[in-house]
Amino acid sequence: MTSKYPHLTSPIKLGNVYFRNRIFSAPMGATDITPDCYPGPRTQGFYELRAKGGAGSVTVSELVVHPETDASHMLHLDLVTPGCLAAHTFVADAIRRHGAVPSIEFSHSGQYAGTYLTDKNKKESLCQWGPSEGTRPDGRPVKSLSKEQIADIVKAYGDAAVLAKRAGYEMIMVHAGHGWLLNQFLSPYFNHRTDEYGGSLENRIRIVREVLEAIRTAVGPGFPVELRISGSELFDSGYDLEDGCKIAHALEDLVDMIHVSAGSYQFGFYVTTPPMFAEHGINVHLAAEIKKHVSKPVATVGALNDPAQMEQIIAEGKADVIYMGRALLADPFLPNKVMAGEDEKIVRCLRCYTCMAERPTTGTRRCAVNPIIGREIEGMDVTPAYKSKKVLVVGAGVAGLKAAVTAAQRGHKVILCEKTDKVGGILKSEQAIPFKYEMYQLGLSLEQQAIEEGVEIRLGVNVTPEYVATEKPDALILAVGSTPIVPQLPGIDGDNVVIVNDYYLQKEKVQESVVVLGGGLAGCECAVHLGMEGKQVHLVEMRDVLAADCNIRHKPILMKQVEKYATSHLRHVGLRITEEGVVCQAPDGSEVLIPGKTVICAVGQRANRACVDALRFCAPFVREVGDCIRPANITKAVYEGYHAALDI
Ligand SMILES: Cc1cc2nc3c(=O)[nH]c(=O)nc-3n(C[C@H](O)[C@H](O)[C@H](O)COP(=O)(O)O)c2cc1C
Ligand code: SF4
Repeated sequence: MTSKYPHLTSPIKLGNVYFRNRIFSAPMGATDITPDCYPGPRTQGFYELRAKGGAGSVTVSELVVHPETDASHMLHLDLVTPGCLAAHTFVADAIRRHGAVPSIEFSHSGQYAGTYLTDKNKKESLCQWGPSEGTRPDGRPVKSLSKEQIADIVKAYGDAAVLAKRAGYEMIMVHAGHGWLLNQFLSPYFNHRTDEYGGSLENRIRIVREVLEAIRTAVGPGFPVELRISGSELFDSGYDLEDGCKIAHALEDLVDMIHVSAGSYQFGFYVTTPPMFAEHGINVHLAAEIKKHVSKPVATVGALNDPAQMEQIIAEGKADVIYMGRALLADPFLPNKVMAGEDEKIVRCLRCYTCMAERPTTGTRRCAVNPIIGREIEGMDVTPAYKSKKVLVVGAGVAGLKAAVTAAQRGHKVILCEKTDKVGGILKSEQAIPFKYEMYQLGLSLEQQAIEEGVEIRLGVNVTPEYVATEKPDALILAVGSTPIVPQLPGIDGDNVVIVNDYYLQKEKVQESVVVLGGGLAGCECAVHLGMEGKQVHLVEMRDVLAADCNIRHKPILMKQVEKYATSHLRHVGLRITEEGVVCQAPDGSEVLIPGKTVICAVGQRANRACVDALRFCAPFVREVGDCIRPANITKAVYEGYHAALDI
């Protein structure tokens, strides 16, 4: 069998180690770390799943090498706590037993120690260290590391390397990017030292050379060491790509691969972890340029998930290895699907940032489209039911689709009824918004899975109690979703009004000036899209905050886009709609016209409770899932659909 993607799926040798393909799992901080700084069982499951899915290598992230100056980073792993080696050995084993190479990222947060503390007040009792004295953007003072401390940190990298190798890790990634300590030394923005660790580029890279030398001495020849850098810091007064090339060139003799990421925490993580508004592979050009200046293999990363694009990157010599972060949370089996040429089965990452938002919010990990992320030890496999049953799923939105697929995978006979003529529910409306197209694709890929699993899909069927009585299912899953709220304002029935869910059907109707009524997540994203299309957009919200329903990582990025593409009117209450726009009550009580030839109504959704009430006693097992309980988000719908099916 020949590979559909011969470059992406070809093995690579780094040092003395073979990797089965070029798809590597990027470091992503895990879910549970014990109070003793050990990787807990959930952490092991978190990494193991991606090894099982076929990645060439899986990187365990955020091992803090020098807790004395970095221990303030909550949820950190280290290799200095007595007894921690066993836990690391179990993690490395768990990755290795599925054919992936276990790698571990060594990190030091430097002045950003404590950044992820869920309890922000704790930062007050911490001390942050960097190359030079200064003040963090959040006001925390930063102390300058002494030469003795630097020597101690360098030694700590070597000590950690000895233990990492002993635990069974087969590669070490040294993190010198994203604005963490080694990056702070490389950066003229952070590093104002006047000794041999500051000033010239040669001096600024000195600590990184020392770290790499200490690691090499510790692990010996042939053990792959990878250097993760930001190809460019991508902000004024940080270092640029030209310097990035010089840094890579100056350090390549000490490493087996240069891993080119981007950006600096100081100016937001969105360059490093690109949002849905950025093009796929936005940072590949950095790797491609650096590759021209080094002879060692180069890895690229950032918003990559399309096998054809990744194949092309390697075929064109822009990089040798592709790292993926979020795409492998959304679908850990992406590499296996690529190897089998089944890319139509890939579940795409939405770049919604739920995964990143969970940790600062709840201290866990979660993925919107993959219900087992962060919960892998609760069961990585969908297991067959002890008895095959007849399952009727009502509603083919995301919750119903996920329930139907999962129930069918368990061996149940599943009928999925949808009252409209297409599956996908609310996700159908995302097809007209390019940066949300992957949400639409989620519906398509779930539909494809349902067909493959033998789910019988019945379209145009309104399920009534009589219908259920005729079918006599053993289990009934109610995934009947929600309906857009349409405020009863004068003018709401006008031809100039489009309900946001119908935008994809009525796109052509939308004029050059638009009022979006409702500044929740859907309204904000629609406003941004219309602005990107060149329309003049006004966004009206009755509360004093936009996108209150948005996660804390997506929100600041979304707000920047809203600022760029729309004029917002907070605390404005819509009174009536005219051909000229929406007449609102302004905060001072006066009436103002917010102008726009088209009005997009995006004031929220209401759960279809009547439908649930009509059906809730119609089968021996009945479960409600998704928006019909309470309109929320994809994460909740997928999670509930999946677990309802596991309970049958
Ligand atoms: C949930 C999450 C956790 C991350 N944790 C780390 C980390 O601990 N260390 C690190 O170097 N990068 C971390 N990153 C950045 C990723 O390694 C990667 O560079 C970035 O997400 C871009 O790749 P992607 O677009 O494929 O997700 C994290 C990213 C995510 C989404
Ligand atoms: S939570 Fe969202 S951004 Fe994170 S991996 Fe899942 S789909 Fe992608």
